[in-house]
Amino acid sequence: MKKHVVLYKTLSAPLMQRLQERADVTLIERLDAHGLDQLRAALPQAQGLLGASLKLDAQWLDLAPKLEAIASVSVGIDNYDLDYLTARHILLTNTPDVLTETTADTGFALILASARRVVELAIRVRNGQWQKNIGPEHFGTDVHGKTLGIIGMGRIGEALAQRGHFGFGMPVIYHSHSPKPAVEARFGARYRSLKALLQEADFICLTLPLTAETQGLIGAEQFALMRTDSIFINISRGKVVDEAALIHALQQGQIRGAGLDVFEREPLDPASPLLTLDNVVATPHIGSATIETREAMARCAVDNLLAALDGQRPPNLVNPSAFDQGR
Ligand code: DGY
Repeated sequence: MKKHVVLYKTLSAPLMQRLQERADVTLIERLDAHGLDQLRAALPQAQGLLGASLKLDAQWLDLAPKLEAIASVSVGIDNYDLDYLTARHILLTNTPDVLTETTADTGFALILASARRVVELAIRVRNGQWQKNIGPEHFGTDVHGKTLGIIGMGRIGEALAQRGHFGFGMPVIYHSHSPKPAVEARFGARYRSLKALLQEADFICLTLPLTAETQGLIGAEQFALMRTDSIFINISRGKVVDEAALIHALQQGQIRGAGLDVFEREPLDPASPLLTLDNVVATPHIGSATIETREAMARCAVDNLLAALDGQRPPNLVNPSAFDQGR
């Protein structure tokens, strides 16, 4: 008998067909109020869930007594309570690897856009304000040859280091749980304490996952350590940063600017002070948002879910003990 899958994300036609060949599928197209009602109604039958961008805590999952597996279309797993899932032997999978290069591209887009003031100056052109050659008040700052500081040297951190080192001749410094000799050998990267990195880097890039340990890692004390000509880039999660402290640092000129793809609350409130600052480039959580990568992520999630529902160990299992204990 086919298993029942609840999709809370639209899939391409070939992926939908593949899933429907093996499962009965309920599709919730949008997570608006109506969609959330549909989800609530569908959960009691769900054996598999596939989607992203929804905090699936016990309040939701208690409604799904038959649930065997969740395939998250994301690398980040901060929307899930791993202890809860494992206690219920619910497998959680994510989509690492397929989005690494694209997310690093986003990081570099933000570095370049912030340093060269691309968005601010493009808006001036669009507004008809380009009436003479620009002067020093609108000059940006170089990227090539500057020191790239990466906090969190996982897959995406490495892809950022690769771009900085080989593409832009940037000395790379990094901070992570422990030094990574292979990264140091490939990119000439040097390990620093968090404090030393914040004091030294021209570009400070966050690529850490959100965990209890990283939440609020960068606050007033950390912004005060940064150089006044540094640029802060966040492509990880908004909650790794104390956003009020970031706004204060930008307003007070403690740092030169920021390129932000993630925020404490998403979507970002249109009234956020961040949007009043010319030296902020804000994008709507587009880290992995390309046609190719989002399709690859969805394919990976479908593969994960089908394997899990077949009783196999899925390729990108986040909580192996749920699998081991559930056998
Ligand atoms: C991820 O995959 O975690 C991206 O940030 C999208 O949430």
